[in-house]
Amino acid sequence: MKRVGIIGTGSYLPEKVLSNFEMEKFLDTSDEWIMTRTGIRERRVAKASEAASDLAQVACKRALAAAGMTAEAIELIVMATITPDTHCPAGANWLEAKLGAKHAVSFDVTAACTGFIFALSVAEQYIKTGVYRNALVVASEIMTRTLDWTDRETCILWGDGAGAVVIAEVEDGKGILSTHLHSDGAGGDNLLMPGGGSKTTPISYKSVDKKLHTLNMIGANQSFKVAVKRFAEVCEEALAHNNVTLDDIKIIVPHQANLRILQGVAKRLDVPMDKIYVNIERYGNISSATVPIALDEAVKDGTIQPGDLVLLAAFGGGLTWGSSLIRW
Ligand code: COA
Repeated sequence: MKRVGIIGTGSYLPEKVLSNFEMEKFLDTSDEWIMTRTGIRERRVAKASEAASDLAQVACKRALAAAGMTAEAIELIVMATITPDTHCPAGANWLEAKLGAKHAVSFDVTAACTGFIFALSVAEQYIKTGVYRNALVVASEIMTRTLDWTDRETCILWGDGAGAVVIAEVEDGKGILSTHLHSDGAGGDNLLMPGGGSKTTPISYKSVDKKLHTLNMIGANQSFKVAVKRFAEVCEEALAHNNVTLDDIKIIVPHQANLRILQGVAKRLDVPMDKIYVNIERYGNISSATVPIALDEAVKDGTIQPGDLVLLAAFGGGLTWGSSLIRW
């Protein structure tokens, strides 16, 4: 089996910033409440003309530039998203055309906030087994289109953005050392977008009046506790599998859902917060895109250096959760 690693990262955040202070103008909330409960100060909002593939396109171009590659050289594109441009064709198909990735095959993977880790794992298998030589793995979300802007417990949490990596064969001892994926379909109701699928289509005035097309977080508090537990478990699972300890890890790059979830994970793992990469203050929760965006920032700001052990971990709707341990 070939060893597969990340050879370039990139990300893109829409220009428009929506701060907590601006949200105070149309919602019964405050910057103080949102900061205290979530650690989020502002989030990005895509332009009306932008779809998920547009955000992904910029992130992918940046990842390709970092890898020193052209889109024409890419053989596989796997896009993680729960907010594709359209349900058919897949978001990845639109992206493939926009990139001019003429020699690539493309498809979407859906695993909510854990989507990037699932997509990375899927793409890795093809390269490991020699089917393809390289892949673009991208996560792109326009979460602000899924929100009920009168639901103050939910709409304050989310934002838009995209992150991408190029993966290819790397020298032995480097690259993805392990991946652990989990799901529990019985917890599906906790984080739910009920409308738009075969259960509620065709879309009707009735379903829109009932706001079935918006993100529903009735089980938010429930998922908060489960998230802390699953995050910590999946980190410990990766460490045990690779026979390493937290002291060996340079940085944990987690899904950014809520600062308090990450503080809970740090406490459970008994590590200081500086072991966990946090950028939620600037972007909020961008579902599957938070991990590759944070990873790109950690590479660009020098947190991650060649040879470092980096632990990616995520938890999200499905329920889904997973980890990937990488020797950079
Ligand atoms: N602004 C001001 N007040 C708000 C508010 C807002 N945006 N949203 C809720 N409140 C109010 C509630 O109505 C409640 O008022 P009450 O005490 O009068 O009933 C009070 O604040 C406390 O609400 P509570 O739900 O106990 O707050 P919390 O500390 O549990 O935080 C969330 C709420 C939504 C921030 C938190 O549960 C959360 O982040 N959940 C999501 C977890 C998650 O992201 N899971 C997915 C992982 S991918």
